[in-house]
Amino acid sequence: MAENFYQATVEAPKTAFDLSLRPPLFSEFQGQARVRERLELMVEAAKKRGDVLEHILLSGPPGLGKTTIAYILANSMEVNLKTTSGPMIERAGDLAGILTTLERGDILFIDEIHRLQATIEEYLYPAMEDFRLDIIIDQGPNARSVRINLPKFTMIGATTRSGLISAPLRSRFGMHSRLDYYGLEDLSHIVERSAGLIGIGIDQTGCDEIASRARGTPRVANNLLRWVRDYAQVKSNGFITQTIADKALEMLDIDRDGLDEMDKRLLEALVVRFQGGPVGISSLAVSVGEDSGTVEEVNEPYLIQEGFIKRTAQGRVALPKAYEKMNLPFPPNRQGEFW
Ligand SMILES: Nc1ncnc2c1ncn2[C@@H]1O[C@H](COP(=O)(O)OP(=O)(O)O)[C@@H](O)[C@H]1O
Ligand SMILES: [Mg+2]
Repeated sequence: MAENFYQATVEAPKTAFDLSLRPPLFSEFQGQARVRERLELMVEAAKKRGDVLEHILLSGPPGLGKTTIAYILANSMEVNLKTTSGPMIERAGDLAGILTTLERGDILFIDEIHRLQATIEEYLYPAMEDFRLDIIIDQGPNARSVRINLPKFTMIGATTRSGLISAPLRSRFGMHSRLDYYGLEDLSHIVERSAGLIGIGIDQTGCDEIASRARGTPRVANNLLRWVRDYAQVKSNGFITQTIADKALEMLDIDRDGLDEMDKRLLEALVVRFQGGPVGISSLAVSVGEDSGTVEEVNEPYLIQEGFIKRTAQGRVALPKAYEKMNLPFPPNRQGEFW
């Protein structure tokens, strides 16, 4: 139950709760200073010139703020934002349907852009570069190409897998911004802001406790906050302190490093079943019954960033910290690799 709750909430992006907590402006967007500064500068320059914002590619693990940034950019530029996603565009006609509703300066946000079909990508190139769409209508001897001129627009692509984006598509974005996991202080501020917005009583230690167990991810932090609030209301007086947060998260099987059930099962498989690796990502995923794309997008980046595992040419290997987590000694024959 705990695991399902956590998985489901990590992945469900558009609950009302989530939307109401989405910062509408850069001034309320915590962290990611470098990315934010660059984008703010682009906005300022475009506005000064009376120009349209360049195409922007946002990448990074789920829940770090890609969609939020797209909305903030639209707000800052005072333009409309249309959203779609890679898998939703099945035919060239779908793409034409969206592109032809845009007005000058509008933003087209394509989520999961790495899942666009290759044929659709081909249509996008001239649309992004020259703001035109050449569509083939009819079939056989009647087939002919129709050119549609588009207003100058901005495309924002978001992806959790920037490695899967083809070079030609990537090169058509004027800016590529990569979001990283958030530090403790930023996350703690995010928890504090969210608590304020939905009227939850919480002290500094409570914010810090939730932040430190949120896998560096604002969406997870907000989800944990919601869970801890429920816990505090049922088991206590509704006010969140460190002790309350700790007990609530314990009940959700979220450990002190923020690792969830799936993270721990992956570490266990790697350390015990595969004797520390190296093992390929698909074998590892199969052994815990998880989809390898999810492991690669959601679990692995955090485990790497926190120093539990390492990616090598031969596959994934467990680092000393993974053995520690499993309460197992690091094999003496591998000591030389790390010191
Ligand atoms: N920098 C931030 N400051 C405050 N809240 C944030 C920030 N980034 C993300 N969030 C919160 O996390 C949630 C998930 O962000 P979202 O933009 O949907 O992530 P992504 O599109 O990268 O998966 C948002 O609804 C918002 O409440
Ligand atoms: Mg998103």
